Amino acid sequence: MCGIIGYVGEHQAVPVILDGLRRLEYRGYDSAGLAVMGAETIEVLRAAGKLANLEELAFDQPPRGSVGVGHTRWATHGAPTEANAHPQVDADGHIAVVHNGILENYADLRRELLDQGVPLASDTDTELIAQLLGRATGSLFERVEAVLSRLVGQFAVVAVSRDEPNTVVAFRNGPPLVVGVGDDEMIVASDVVALLHRTKRVIYLENGDIAVVHQHEAHIHNDGRAVDRPVETLDWDAGRMDKGGFRHYMLKEIHEQPDAIRNTVRAYLNADRTAVNLGDLGFDHDRLAEVRRIHLVACGTSWHACLVGKFLIERLTGLPTEVDYGSEYRYREPLVGPDVLVVGVTQSGETADTLAAMELGKDAGALLGTICNVRGSSSWRMAQARMLTQAGPEIGVASTKAFTTQLVAMVLLALALRQVRGLSDGTDTEIIRQLLRLPLAIEQAIEGSEEAYDQATQLLAEATDSLFLGRGCLYPIALEGALKLKEISYLHAEGYPAGEMKHGPIALLTEGFPIVTVAPATPTREKLLGNLMEVRARGAVVIAVAEREAADVAQVADIVLPIPAVDRLLQPIVTTIPLQLLAYRVAVELGLDVDQPRNLAKSVTVE
Ligand code: AGP
Repeated sequence: MCGIIGYVGEHQAVPVILDGLRRLEYRGYDSAGLAVMGAETIEVLRAAGKLANLEELAFDQPPRGSVGVGHTRWATHGAPTEANAHPQVDADGHIAVVHNGILENYADLRRELLDQGVPLASDTDTELIAQLLGRATGSLFERVEAVLSRLVGQFAVVAVSRDEPNTVVAFRNGPPLVVGVGDDEMIVASDVVALLHRTKRVIYLENGDIAVVHQHEAHIHNDGRAVDRPVETLDWDAGRMDKGGFRHYMLKEIHEQPDAIRNTVRAYLNADRTAVNLGDLGFDHDRLAEVRRIHLVACGTSWHACLVGKFLIERLTGLPTEVDYGSEYRYREPLVGPDVLVVGVTQSGETADTLAAMELGKDAGALLGTICNVRGSSSWRMAQARMLTQAGPEIGVASTKAFTTQLVAMVLLALALRQVRGLSDGTDTEIIRQLLRLPLAIEQAIEGSEEAYDQATQLLAEATDSLFLGRGCLYPIALEGALKLKEISYLHAEGYPAGEMKHGPIALLTEGFPIVTVAPATPTREKLLGNLMEVRARGAVVIAVAEREAADVAQVADIVLPIPAVDRLLQPIVTTIPLQLLAYRVAVELGLDVDQPRNLAKSVTVE
């Protein structure tokens, strides 16, 4: 959730840290801080609120020094105040610590320190780590070794000590940490986006690693032994991470979908683009052929992709497919074993609940796969078979291009399963042909109709509640549309299967109540139109996502957000676009912070 950076190198640390924090701000943005190793003291600056407040603080008299740490916070323990911002320091101010995660034994440690007369200046669990390190003895590495066994929970920590002015020490259990290897500097960060513009050479730390990082080298220990971790080279382009002339990252990322989808499709097809290339998917053919059931696990938007995936996989392969929230899977004692393919679907590859669900599957002997957008992330490294969605870095907290590429990956996964089960026929080549044409359809959907969007935006912006309706594999798209609106406009929205309306939710309807519906041509469209007549009869106003030429929808809906006609299997992908644009426009209309909505963070690395 929080963004972490540590710097040791040739240059002044403050500009590097602030630049890194700017790139990490999407991971948490309720307060920020930095600490720099001065000649004799560690200088700490902290500010509540957005990073701009810290930047302002650092602007006039930036602390000077070439070693330091920085943090942008998503509050867990304690309100987002200056006192609770990171870095936190020990009682003597000798050691400064930034932290991502949660100490589960927070209460016990806090009581213990207070009983020992240690003055605590914040409500954070992070301060407890700083105080424990301050009370331990030896080098910073030895102190970390001594304290590590006292920490229960999920954490990634970067620390500096006044006594070792040329060193940054990083350690993790759970949330990710990466060490960037530059020519004359090393940068430790919670996310490669913080360092990609300075170096593409990185070392991923494993759970239990303690990295002692100097300007030209990093020594890594795990469980008392020195370990070698490979230096990997990233293939992401730092240039893709600015707004590229768009007003918001979210809008830019919506417009990037044709390319993201094109790249994802092409990455997994054979040379003549007639079949899926299993080798590229990383699946062992024989092992995949043994699979009899599928479990898809994910959170949030990625979970919606799984719901669509269930429809696709069951329809195309006949394999029973279950979908679970990552946060529920491990607590429901799922029936999982070697005949199951468990797929963790996650944009970031770092969502703690999804990783825990994957871990359970792995322990039960299941074949473990991931559909993920970040090469080298935790889910990527844990899985035996990996599909990389080629969306590129997604900075807007509201997921857009990562979702539609996950849907594409679901189609490709279903085709791969058909292939190993000997089910492939003309259907497959036709689906691939449609997939290759999909980017054009997405472009047309993005074009939309200005007038229709204006009307729909006004209607929603003036409402307090709305319902999103769909049927079949478009019901998850209704859920996703409602989530997008909730996330960035703070308006209450719920997704429902249209047929469920009369079993309760219809009681909510009053004159002018907005209903958004996903209504492309399907065998159940007539039934959906019947459901819409029922809601209109009770005063609701209907906004429908449908083909421009769909006269039957135009008769029932008050506003139509147009899409091109596409194959039924690909309708979930194309119908998503107008719902993304609608949520975006409503948030802009309400003057809200589209890319950094309140209370949220891009990557949820705690349970
Ligand atoms: C999407 O708009 C949300 N920000 C959120 O639901 C997200 O999809 C969820 O937290 C899962 O993240 P992941 O895909 O990185 O695992």
